Amino acid sequence: MNNTAIRNLFSLKNRVAIITGGAGILGMEYAKTLFLSGAKVILFDIKENFTLPRNLKAKYIKVDISNKNEVDEAIKTVLRLYKKIDILINNAALNPVPGSEQSKNLFLPYEQYPEDLWRKDLDVNITGSQFCTQSVVPFMKKQKKGTIINISSIYGITGPDNRIYDAGKFKSIGYATTKGAMENFTRSWASYLESTDIRVNTLTLGGVFANQSEQFVKAYSSKTILGRMAKKDDFNCAILFLASDASRYMTGSNLIIDGGWSAW
Ligand SMILES: NC(=O)c1ccc[n+]([C@@H]2O[C@H](COP(=O)([O-])OP(=O)(O)OC[C@H]3O[C@@H](n4cnc5c(N)ncnc54)[C@H](O)[C@@H]3O)[C@@H](O)[C@H]2O)c1
Repeated sequence: MNNTAIRNLFSLKNRVAIITGGAGILGMEYAKTLFLSGAKVILFDIKENFTLPRNLKAKYIKVDISNKNEVDEAIKTVLRLYKKIDILINNAALNPVPGSEQSKNLFLPYEQYPEDLWRKDLDVNITGSQFCTQSVVPFMKKQKKGTIINISSIYGITGPDNRIYDAGKFKSIGYATTKGAMENFTRSWASYLESTDIRVNTLTLGGVFANQSEQFVKAYSSKTILGRMAKKDDFNCAILFLASDASRYMTGSNLIIDGGWSAW
């Protein structure tokens, strides 16, 4: 393999990529990475009046992915504008930073975890991913090619270690349950799409530093082999690998980028 062949494998020139939760912390990172690699990027997010950063050329579509009609309409818009869909990243989830106002009820003891939040976790993290996947796969089948990346977390492959949170706080049972479900969501879709060139993989991530308390960062970091939390750009090369032909022989699989959290 020569330089050009390697560059071509990683190139996303003229590929059309949808990122759900694209206006979030990591969605923005993926958007910039895919854009710089040549892709036409479309962000699906529920945020009102979202303004794209100056250094990113992308299309923002306000869509609640837990609403099937809204998803189908948004996919139609993408097809009208770009004629095809090559990449879907199922990234949206309820994942507020510990200690933030939005995280208030997400860290309750499991016996008291509110029913509305539990249903919302399922709706956004799992049902939303199912709706987006259901909606794009028929077009990927027509194109005979596509790649779907489902975002999971260390809490999809291990139980939360609640000792690292403040006393009386517990990592959302709804979050951990749906992230675990994401892992088999991947295998099931990949298996269903056997003998096609539509590949489905999971990218499993460790926790990202986002100004959490010093005590939390120290406790979290000590659980990783590399001794630190992730930086928000630590996953960009992994997303490029999974989105591009560089991962052409990979499907139904799970790429774990967690600083070694799950290895010891
Ligand atoms: N940040 C971390 O430490 C971390 C660690 C492991 C895994 N992850 C995973 O990475 C992904 C992104 O996390 P993040 O930290 O960027 O979170 P984030 O909260 O910054 O981004 C999530 C985005 O999803 C959007 N969203 C929520 N509900 C939606 C809906 N119904 N329809 C459309 N969009 C909706 C939000 O508006 C938000 O912009 C999540 O799947 C999360 O589980 C994050």
